[in-house]
Amino acid sequence: MTAGNINPVLSTHGIGRTYSSAHGNVIALEDIDVAVRPGEFVSIIGASGCGKSTLLRIVAGLDRATCGEVHVAGAPVVGPAADRGMVFQGYTLFPWLSILSNVMFGPRMRRVPRREARKSALHWLAMVGLERVSHLFPHQLSGGMQQRVAIARALANEPKVLLMDEPFGALDAQTRGNLQLQLMDLWQRVGMTVVFVTHDLDEAVLLSDRVIVLGAHPGRVVAEIDVPLARPRTHDVYLERAYQQTKRQLRNWICPDQARDASTSASTPARDTGLPDLNAPRTSGTRALGGTAAAHLPESRTPDEASGAS
Ligand SMILES: Nc1ncnc2c1ncn2[C@@H]1O[C@H](COP(=O)(O)OP(=O)(O)OP(=O)(O)O)[C@@H](O)[C@H]1O
Ligand SMILES: [Mg+2]
Repeated sequence: MTAGNINPVLSTHGIGRTYSSAHGNVIALEDIDVAVRPGEFVSIIGASGCGKSTLLRIVAGLDRATCGEVHVAGAPVVGPAADRGMVFQGYTLFPWLSILSNVMFGPRMRRVPRREARKSALHWLAMVGLERVSHLFPHQLSGGMQQRVAIARALANEPKVLLMDEPFGALDAQTRGNLQLQLMDLWQRVGMTVVFVTHDLDEAVLLSDRVIVLGAHPGRVVAEIDVPLARPRTHDVYLERAYQQTKRQLRNWICPDQARDASTSASTPARDTGLPDLNAPRTSGTRALGGTAAAHLPESRTPDEASGAS
């Protein structure tokens, strides 16, 4: 979908990040231009070490880009602020605070009056179905419950964008599946904007409007794929052809070697497979997004389309 006339709520412009170490420089990210529409659910996938967390931390203001800029609602990001909520993989609640106090923490730091902060915290705890346990402490909750509190805590600041770095990665499959459904339900009820990092292609397709694929060394955007599935969604979408096609496209970008091997064993010449060359410059498989406040937002591209276009 082309949406050039919609101002993105979040955009990055030429983001690069180089880490220095005793063994030399590591270019974690290079020339990252992405734009996210208000209310959009975008996932970022890519191999381990390709820079997903680095990108999210830069957007959150927890790390500094070596070059480039991040804008949220048109304003440059200069550090952490309440307009970006972050949920991490590990359990990050304050163990010495009750669940209610954990969720009230952000608003209280922003000097929201106690009564108002309490009301807001109870509202967000109710939104994640946990108002009953507001008096308990984190160690008295399951991992899945703690992650729901972490989501409520992030949302209590009423962020413009919710950033989630593998938030369900530490959970068992059943809890993870339940939280995926609850997150989609919450996202639809609240109308929030989410940027979600995951390793899990099923999770990315199930949850997202659009999936951004990062290639590694250096981390750069190699593809952006719209997910053509109706909402509301359940895990039944796994049975749909459009789901399977989207997942296959993503897998081809993430594991081109596997896809090439499969096609080679089927006697198809590699050059005819239409699979991406992740070492190629970022032109054929992606659309440049950021660059201006009115950044153009992408259409879906596939490796096949990309190779046809190149
Ligand atoms: N503080 C740091 N100092 C040096 N190198 C770093 C630092 N943080 C990250 N890196 C390097 O930057 C690259 C990207 O790391 P990052 O954690 O963003 O990857 P990731 O895609 O989130 O990986 P994973 O999927 O395993 O979480 C890696 O090569 C990593 O070693
Ligand atoms: Mg990471």
